[in-house]
Amino acid sequence: MNKPKTVVVGITGGIAAYKIAELVSRLYKNGFNVQVVMTKHATRFITPLTLRTLSNNPVLVDMFDESGTHRVQHIGVAEEADILVIAPATANIIAKMACGIADDLLSTIVLATRAPVLLAPSMNTNMYDHPATQDNIRKLKDRGVTILEPAEGELACGVTGRGRLPEIETIYDKIIDVLEDRPRDLVNKTILVTAGATQEDIDPVRFITNHSTGKMGYALAAAAVRRGARVFLVSGPTYLTVPDGVESRQVRSAREMNDICHELFGQVDVVIGAAAVADYRPLDYSDEKLKKNDNDMVIKLTRNPDILEGLGKRKQHQILVGFAAETSDVIQNARQKMQKKNLDLLVANDLTVEGAGFAGDTNIVTLLFKDGREEKLPLMSKLEVAGVILDAVLELF
Ligand code: C5P
Repeated sequence: MNKPKTVVVGITGGIAAYKIAELVSRLYKNGFNVQVVMTKHATRFITPLTLRTLSNNPVLVDMFDESGTHRVQHIGVAEEADILVIAPATANIIAKMACGIADDLLSTIVLATRAPVLLAPSMNTNMYDHPATQDNIRKLKDRGVTILEPAEGELACGVTGRGRLPEIETIYDKIIDVLEDRPRDLVNKTILVTAGATQEDIDPVRFITNHSTGKMGYALAAAAVRRGARVFLVSGPTYLTVPDGVESRQVRSAREMNDICHELFGQVDVVIGAAAVADYRPLDYSDEKLKKNDNDMVIKLTRNPDILEGLGKRKQHQILVGFAAETSDVIQNARQKMQKKNLDLLVANDLTVEGAGFAGDTNIVTLLFKDGREEKLPLMSKLEVAGVILDAVLELF
């Protein structure tokens, strides 16, 4: 087993500090050793107890606290870090970093660490746009600090503009990016990813769907775009944010998804079918809301097109990747599916295993190659699984 990577999460005193609970929780759940360091101001926005519970580690605030585990606290934490993330990063910490001021535990760790540093600034628009802040940001970038752009939107101070903390998803993905330092090895490749569940209408208010959240497909799209690919994401309804740089087409039904995939197929080099497409839809759609009576009701279902199978028939140079979520005879069923759909790679997961399948941030999968090879992967975050799938695709070119 590899030693878990240590992410030092520095929290400074901005209103967005409360959002970092989710980042810490996600990092911890994905197997990172998370060390939270807060400024005194940050503790006014979120309690150290919350972050201690979510990170499963004592939270450090005070430079001279004697309860820490390191002989010299700031040096120990600085050396232990594989990455130092400061989120939210206030104008104050950015200015202190630009000048090399070390007047509390967090700013001291910043000076002492040799780990890559990632900042997620969040503040009032005027403070962000101020020439002093912009100068400081430029200085830090020149020194190799990675700085995320704040998002636009309504700020806590009532102003609408640039300055919101980027989505936690974006910060998390950037952390993985910096830690993995992956090459841009998919430049000039076009990848189509399907994601999420489809919705099959019964009447104007009811539909049939499934538990897929789209997380695996969105992770694949995000990972592929970061490695330089052009990415089309054809997605059923989800609550996820489309990753930056991805061209998304939002659909509801399997037939809509099928039409768009066929339309794009000629332009793509790879199709990854991560969507949980409904196999059946109601045979008759009722324009009127169906009325209840005292009897049972039967809804007759008809087959939806199998998107991958249809593309498999049209396949020329394209690489086709499918998913098989099974609850029994996983590998045997997966192999049959692979043949039927003319796939080059199949990602099989056993839904009965804890940590695999829908909704969670992790997955446990086995990669099945056309030539009979099998690669069983350990529990990984969906973003890490996405990385391995893209490695396998690259190998197939
Ligand atoms: O046959 P099964 O649904 O188990 O196969 C799963 C794989 O096939 C997934 O990659 C899924 O995206 C794809 N699929 C599809 N069209 C369907 C059903 C599944 O492309 N109608």
